[in-house]
Amino acid sequence: MAQLIVSGGRPLEGEVAISGAKNAALPILAAALLAEQPVTIDNLPDLKDITTSIELLDALGCRCQRLDSHSWRIDAGSAERVVAPYELVVKMRASILVLGPLLARHGRAEVSFPGGCAIGSRPVDLHLRGLEMMGAVIEIDGGYIKAQVPAGRLRGSHILMDVVSVGATENLMMAAVLAQGQTVIENAAREPEIVDLAHCLNAWGARVSGAGSNRLVIDGVAALSGGRYTVMPDRIETGTFLAAALATRGRVRTTHTDPTTLEAVLLKMQEAGAEVSCGSDWIELDSRGCAIRAVDFRTAPYPAFPTDMQSQLMAVNATAEGSAMIHETIFENRLMQAQELNRMGAKITVEGHTALVKGVAQLRGAPVRASDLRASAGLVIAALAASGETIIDRVYHIDRGYERIEEKLQGLGATIVRRDSPETEAS
Ligand code: EPZ
Repeated sequence: MAQLIVSGGRPLEGEVAISGAKNAALPILAAALLAEQPVTIDNLPDLKDITTSIELLDALGCRCQRLDSHSWRIDAGSAERVVAPYELVVKMRASILVLGPLLARHGRAEVSFPGGCAIGSRPVDLHLRGLEMMGAVIEIDGGYIKAQVPAGRLRGSHILMDVVSVGATENLMMAAVLAQGQTVIENAAREPEIVDLAHCLNAWGARVSGAGSNRLVIDGVAALSGGRYTVMPDRIETGTFLAAALATRGRVRTTHTDPTTLEAVLLKMQEAGAEVSCGSDWIELDSRGCAIRAVDFRTAPYPAFPTDMQSQLMAVNATAEGSAMIHETIFENRLMQAQELNRMGAKITVEGHTALVKGVAQLRGAPVRASDLRASAGLVIAALAASGETIIDRVYHIDRGYERIEEKLQGLGATIVRRDSPETEAS
């Protein structure tokens, strides 16, 4: 099992190119199932979750051709299979995103029921309820969501979601694209990845409007044509590199990114005392010689502060002046990195969904263990700021969401290497 070994305590300095957004790429790959003609998707990040998605499309009968390390051509024209097997869904919960497209295209789908994961219980009731409102009949049998559309074609519907959900909004949007008539989704998620999916669907012949607002209107069409689409830049990867610059009191310019998708994060970094400047496709953060203060924040759906950046800013707070409260409102178990940060000398107390972080002058390297993707990003940031050596175990989590992370960090002057090591388990 791989580990990352980080020798920290040095400011990061330089320029780093941001990859395509994992959380936009996953629904866009699922959307390929809707198209009768081949689609080409560019700027896909080269990540484990993307490979798993391709395996799933393959299992569903798509012809998938890798054009280069970041582009795939998917032909779902003759794909007839409708079963998303347990073995793949268990590797990646986002596999649930094929449910809407399969039902819309074939009127039938069997998708292994995704369980919870390290960060929370993560139910899918909103996905299922919305599809039922569009005419699907759904039962859970043998661990599978078995869905069919007795009328043959889903029908447009007026759906009000009682919780803002990124995945449910995406699944229902994709299902509605081929439904009979108009679908309105109220209280829709507004994340930039939703907007990217809508742009992609429209580029392939769909009629989606309102993306980026909390009311989506989708006019069903008979078929999607196909075409080419470039995935948006990864705002969370961008924020992670900027947080690493901030924690190490360095200066980093992220390129090939989109500053308009990161406003809440950049405001917090400025409030902490960093200088932030932006161009149309770059963001630079300079914190050399700055006194960095701990900042309070609360995670919430876009455009508020993203839960996917919570762990990284916790690591910054751990090394800042003063104390701050962090409220995690999206997932029930997403403060797990706090205990590992405390092993590095941080002073963090967690109570329920709230963490009180008292900044310390210097974190110290230690062996730590990653529990999930973004928690591991927080540990890497803390390790870069800490004195001495940190060994981060279970880095397969980080590989799900960060392309060539150690290479990109090395380019910014970090001392970080990957090595294989036997795993030691504790209960
Ligand atoms: C997406 O997950 C992202 N994943 C997550 O990124 C991200 O943390 C999350 O949105 C929130 O921004 C992908 O895009 C692949 P939700 P998703 O449905 O869609 C509740 C990362 O690290 N809920 O918006 O699964 C749910 O329990 C990952 O990259 C229901 O109650 O999140 C949660 O409290 C992790 N019923 C809240 O909604 C449902 O049917 C938001 O979850 C669905 C969700």
